[in-house]
Amino acid sequence: MEFGEVVRRRRMVRSYDPGRPVPPEVLTRALEHATRSPSAGFSQGWDFVVLSSEEERGRFWSAATDPEARERQDRWLRGVMSAPCLVVCLSDKQAYLERYAEPDKGRTDRDEARWPVPYWDVDTGMAALLMLLTAVDEGLGGLFFGVPAERVQQTLAALGAPGDRRVVGVVAMGYPAPDRRSPSLRRGRRPLSEVAHRGRFGTPWPGGVDGA
Ligand SMILES: Cc1cc2nc3c(=O)[nH]c(=O)nc-3n(C[C@H](O)[C@H](O)[C@H](O)COP(=O)(O)O)c2cc1C
Repeated sequence: MEFGEVVRRRRMVRSYDPGRPVPPEVLTRALEHATRSPSAGFSQGWDFVVLSSEEERGRFWSAATDPEARERQDRWLRGVMSAPCLVVCLSDKQAYLERYAEPDKGRTDRDEARWPVPYWDVDTGMAALLMLLTAVDEGLGGLFFGVPAERVQQTLAALGAPGDRRVVGVVAMGYPAPDRRSPSLRRGRRPLSEVAHRGRFGTPWPGGVDGA
């Protein structure tokens, strides 16, 4: 698919055909693309835990969601739980602090305050986007969603992941099933003239096709 079309077509998909697994070669391609993501200092402080079997996904859902919500099976959860594959995206802060203490970076401390934003999470988020775009390119769909803060430790334990990792989010992937449009989209896309500034903040970017 043409790149612009992949970008335009990407939507967060919240309901999947549970009977159609993600082909292993698609999954491998998505993961390979994720590893092409940029990372500060080429730290690559990310890990992707792929959950494809019902048992693996069940363990994740039990840890990551509230039992009451599962009992209620609200619309969102019912839809997202139909995804045949989940990729839990973890970031590793320590990998960045260590990398930047190497001689070519020259930081003698590992002080987190020196980081303008948590690059470990930024980089892992970029990798997740590459997976979402790959899914679209392959005719599938995906959703990036978060794990509630109070459920993170339990989720890491259920995955057998080290407790110091951060769960940046989860990429659900599969063949889309009919879904309802997200109510958030009613907000409308902010036009380029509003979000892009030419030369200095407040001078609107002149071009752009709204809705493109
Ligand atoms: C960091 C992040 C967290 C998100 N978390 C959720 C989530 O927990 N549940 C959900 O349904 N959608 C989630 N979304 C999807 C957004 O709602 C969606 O991207 C937005 O409404 C725009 O729609 P679109 O991506 O389909 O164009 C998240 C998106 C991002 C980037």
